[in-house]
This record gives sequence, structure tokens and C-alpha cells, in this order.
Amino acid sequence: MGSYAEEYKRFINNREDFWKEKADLIHWYKKSEKILSKTEEDLFRWYEGGTLNTCYLAVDFHVENGRKDQTALIYDSPVTNTKQKFTYGELQKEVSEFAGVLVNLGITKGDRVVIYMPMIPEAVFAMLACARIGAIHSVVFGGFAPHELAIRIDDATPKLLISSSYGIEVDKIIPYKPLLDEAIHQATHKPDSVLMVKRPNLDEIMHTGRDHYYHEIRSEAKPRDCVPVGANHPLYILYTSGTTGKPKGVIRENGGHAVAMHYSMKAVYNMNPGDVFWSASDVGWVVGHSYIVYAPLIYGCTTILYEGKPVRTPDAGAFFRVISEYKVKVLFTAPTAIRAIKKEDPEGKLLKKYDITCLETLFLAGERTDPNTYYWAQDLLKVPVVDHWWQTETGWAISSNLIGIEKRDSKAGSSNFPVPGFEVHILDDGGNVLENGKEGYIAVKLPLPPGCLPTLWKDTPNFRKSYLQQYPGYYVTGDGGYYDKDGYLFVMGRIDDVINVAGHRLSTGEMEEIISSHPSVAECAVIGIAEEIKGQIPIGFVVLKDGHSSEGLKLETDLSHMIREQIGAIASFKNAMIVKRLPKTRSGKILRKTMRKMLDGEEFTIPSTIDDPAILDEIKEIAKSHKVGKAFS
Ligand code: COA
Ligand code: AMP
Repeated sequence: MGSYAEEYKRFINNREDFWKEKADLIHWYKKSEKILSKTEEDLFRWYEGGTLNTCYLAVDFHVENGRKDQTALIYDSPVTNTKQKFTYGELQKEVSEFAGVLVNLGITKGDRVVIYMPMIPEAVFAMLACARIGAIHSVVFGGFAPHELAIRIDDATPKLLISSSYGIEVDKIIPYKPLLDEAIHQATHKPDSVLMVKRPNLDEIMHTGRDHYYHEIRSEAKPRDCVPVGANHPLYILYTSGTTGKPKGVIRENGGHAVAMHYSMKAVYNMNPGDVFWSASDVGWVVGHSYIVYAPLIYGCTTILYEGKPVRTPDAGAFFRVISEYKVKVLFTAPTAIRAIKKEDPEGKLLKKYDITCLETLFLAGERTDPNTYYWAQDLLKVPVVDHWWQTETGWAISSNLIGIEKRDSKAGSSNFPVPGFEVHILDDGGNVLENGKEGYIAVKLPLPPGCLPTLWKDTPNFRKSYLQQYPGYYVTGDGGYYDKDGYLFVMGRIDDVINVAGHRLSTGEMEEIISSHPSVAECAVIGIAEEIKGQIPIGFVVLKDGHSSEGLKLETDLSHMIREQIGAIASFKNAMIVKRLPKTRSGKILRKTMRKMLDGEEFTIPSTIDDPAILDEIKEIAKSHKVGKAFS
């Protein structure tokens, strides 16, 4: 492929030629003659007029081209002691029959299907079956509470919900049906049908007429073929946390997505067809969509669906076991998983039980890889560690070490270089491009490459407002950072109300909305502070209404319960401190960033616009007395 610099230059010099060449590497029913165009709403669009089918590319194409008997999907579930392999041929049978069930339930091209499932093969079949018939799936992470699911149901207005009996959290069974029923109850939109994939040893209450068991209606369905769809037809909607309680419906279109997935497998991950790729994530997150399901399959690799944790299922050697057992070439996970392993097995003793010489590279994303984790993983695994930077919005890496193009050294703390397709600049407040070494807003010059969101589901005004308005001609990522003198990109964290808790993207703004609804709360601020394993955890500072005393209130328990009920246990909200006032600027803006830096023990300057500096001292004292924050614990 030549050098990274050459590849990047080819993209910068002629984007359309570059992306035409990449598009020619996948199978189209009809190729697009307009590589890049604009919609009526003046938004960029890739491959207008082209037709293809993503499920065909991920499944049938390989069956027809010599990979019928190659393993496509490995299901490894330490929590149920199950291991199962599906060849491409078997995957085709499963998916085409699943598609038949969808058709029998009245699902056609363009209908939305919400999938709320644990990490079982049927979750993958369901996604691919939707793609096969042109239905638009919206997978909701199984750790979200009914309230979050209801919000997504109301926005996506699905005809069908697909779920399964339960998820398993280490040794805890989480029945999904009651959560699903509660979500449907809370939602204004009511789906026509619910399709349940049964798991052993739990019976659920089924609503006659609406609810169906997959195993009961499967035999009535006939396998369905792939339906050609337009390149700009949505493949899926994936909701992600923004700065408010309303998540953003990121749209992924079939054409650009398939091209980007295909390109990234070689350029970013250096995979070849037939190699084994393992993304230890969840199908409910973007990483799971792109790198458990679509990209490895589109590229003819073997992918692993792992229903377990990095630790406790059964121990911190679980990842090493899977790598050695299936000859994994590339592992992609979140730094939090590595930190969890490191905490339980700091010397990596469990690794000695396994041969992991098959592993070529460890890729990390979801949050910045701190240098300690980077060095620990590299020293232990003796393979290059690549931190690469991503968002749900982009669907694939914005910056990475492009090891499939040129193996360059990574730097600890950096997510390396812009991926060809992304023209990444650091901007100051006024939108001027900053020189290397200066920290600012990280923005991507438009157009975004194929695979990135074209807009938000039914909400172009919010798409413009959230991403395009701040700096005309740019997509604003919401992250801050800088290039160092050697051109390495350092992504230092969000500059908005989004936090990452153990790799789960959550909104502190949404948590504030929930806490504010407590009858005793006058106002509050939720900030994400540094935590050893999860990277960040949310904590709250709460001002009570006049006349409400904190005595006997169990406020902390109440608030943590509310967040758990409405967002989910994944929010890990456990600390709420009552304060008399919140630190603000004279114009009333809460100084969340200043509080965060103070608690994390980072250097900070008190803004000159602060209303009353004494409030910051009060916050400090209360955090100290609760031993909250790196600076005080
Ligand atoms: N369904 C229901 N509940 C879930 C869930 C799911 N799918 N996932 C997590 N939860 C619950 C957990 O049971 C836990 O509940 P508890 O408070 O009652 O114990 C809570 O949410 C927090 O879970 P988690 O964030 O997973 O923390 P943990 O302490 O159990 O495990 C890690 C910590 C680091 C091992 C784990 O978070 C992990 O593996 N993270 C990697 C995430 C990842 O891969 N993200 C994708 C980005 S690439
Ligand atoms: P998500 O949409 O859940 O993938 O979360 C995206 C956000 O996670 C980004 O905007 C970043 O804040 C953060 N993130 C993901 N990967 C990295 C990384 N490698 N380095 C720094 N931040 C990251």
C-alpha cells in the first residue's frame, strides 16, 4: 500500500478518486456514478445512486466465493459454558431464515426494528437479517434501563422489538422481558410485535397476539434473499449520549459504511481475509456494530462474540484464553478492560498458562489510553499497542496507527495520526487552525468520509446545531486535544457534558436532569471524575430546596437509585454531596470543568468571571471530607 504519508496525500489530493478506488473493492449491484454529492438539505452524501446489500457482502458473497466452510462467527460464552462456531454457510442459513421470520411479521424495507439483546449469536443474526431485507435496525445496549429503551422506541418508532430471555452479568441473571414490557408501557409508540429468543431455565410472560417466540415461528418462515438497497438507505440507527437527556440517533448508511468497513480492516488493523479478529465489546455499542459484526464479516474474517467480562468469568486470564484458543490476530478492547485485568493480576501471571504468539496487535479505544496502561499492556503482551480514537458518530477510527499501510511507532498517550478520509484540525475559539503543540477543539474538515453519520435520525436541525454550526465547514467532534511537534494527535477528553464510564458513553447533562427531578433538589451539577479502573465515574453536587433538610433524607441512595432506574447500573452513580451553593460565573454558568480539575488534582485557574471564589473552597472541603476525587482520596 506504500507509506502512510503517500496514502494520506492521495486522499487529500482527490477525495473522490480515493473513495471511488476503495468502493471498487466491494461488490455493488449497481455502482454509483456520483461518488460525492449533496442532498437537498445541502449535506454531503457518498455513492448516490449505487445499490448494494450489506448482508450480501457480509455473508452470501463469501459463501459464493470460496469461504462457505470457513468459520465466520465464534460464540464463546464463559457465563453459560458454551462454545459454538458458525461457518459462512451456516451463517447464511441462520440469517436468511431469521429474515424470513421478520418478513412473516410484516417487516419490509425501511421499517425499523429495535434489538435489545445479550451477546448471543441471534443478536448478530437479527442485525444481519434486518440488513438482508433492507429493514433498519436500532440496537439498544442491554445494560440500559427501560426508560432509555422507551426514549429510543419513541424516536425510532419500530414495528418490531427483538429481545431474549435474559442477559448474564458474571453470575447474575438479568431478565429482559420485564424491562422490555416496562419500556413499551412507558413509550408512546407501541410496536406491533415482540420477538423473543428463548434462553433456558426462565419463562417469560408473553402477550398474546403481540409476542412471539422465535423457535416457535421459525419453521413457518422461508429463507429470504438479499434485497438491493440504495447506498444512502440507512443500515441502522444507533443512539448515543449527547449533552441532554435526549440521545442522538446516529444514522449509518449502507454504501459508505460498507466501503469504510472494508477499507479499515486492512488499512487500520492489517487483517487479511481468513484471519481471526476479536473485538471484546458489546453489539450494543458502535464498536460492536462495526468490529464484532460488520467489518470482520465484510472482509471475510472470523469474528468472535464473547459473552463475558475481562475478569471474573472466571478470572483475569479470560482474554488470554480466548486469544490462544481461537488464534486471534488482533484484539480490540477498551483501556478499562486492561486496567481491570491489571488490577487483578498485576504481574500477568495468568498469561503464562496460554500461548498468545498468534496476537499481532492490541487496539484500544473508548477513552484515551493512559500511558501506564499502554506500557503495562505492551510489556506484558509483547505486541504493539495502538490507541485509536473513535466516536459513535464516525463509526470507525478518526485517528490511528495505520499498521496495514505502514508500521510506525506509536507514542504513549497519543491516538496517533488522522486516518485517510479524516482531515483533522485543532481549532481555537475563533475557528482558526492552531499550530502543533497548542490545545484546542478537535474538528474534522467536511466532508466526513464514507461511513460517518450523514445526519441524525429525523433531526437534521439538531445535527447542524450539534456538529456543524460552531465552525462552518467543519464537523466538531466534542473532544479537545493537540498535535505534538511530530504530528501525533493527543485526544485529551470531552469539552462537553459527555463522559465515558468503563467504556460506556453517558451524558452528565441527562443525569442532572434526573437528579433535578427529585422533590428536594433545587439544583445540581454532575461531573465525571477520574477513577482507577473505569476511567471516569460521575459524581453529583446537590443544592437542596429551602426548607428541605438533608437529615434522614437518604439522598445519596435515592439519587443513585433514580439514575440506576432511569439510565441503568452502567452509570455507576454512587456519590452525591450536598452543598450550600454551586460555583458559578457571574453570568450563572456552573464551573463544572474547574470543579473536575480540582477534584482530579490537575492544575487549574480560577476563572476571573467567578461569582464567589469561596464556594469553590466549600466544594473542596466537602469533597475532602467525603474522600472523593483523586486529589483527596
Ligand atoms: N446488562 C445489564 N447490566 C449491565 C450490563 C448489561 N449488558 N453491563 C453492565 N451492567 C451492570 C453491571 O452488572 C454492574 O451492575 P452492579 O452495579 O449492579 O454491579 C453495572 O452495570 C456496572 O457494570 P460495568 O460497567 O461493566 O462495571 P463492572 O465493575 O461490572 O466491570 C469492567 C468493569 C471494566 C470489567 C467492565 O466495565 C468492562 O469490561 N468494560 C469494557 C466495556 C467495553 O468493552 N466497552 C466498549 C467500548 S470499546
Ligand atoms: P463513543 O461514541 O461511545 O464511541 O464515545 C466516543 C468518545 O469516546 C469520543 O468522543 C472520545 O471522547 C472518547 N474516545 C474514544 N476513543 C478514544 C481514544 N482513543 N482516545 C481518547 N478518547 C477516546
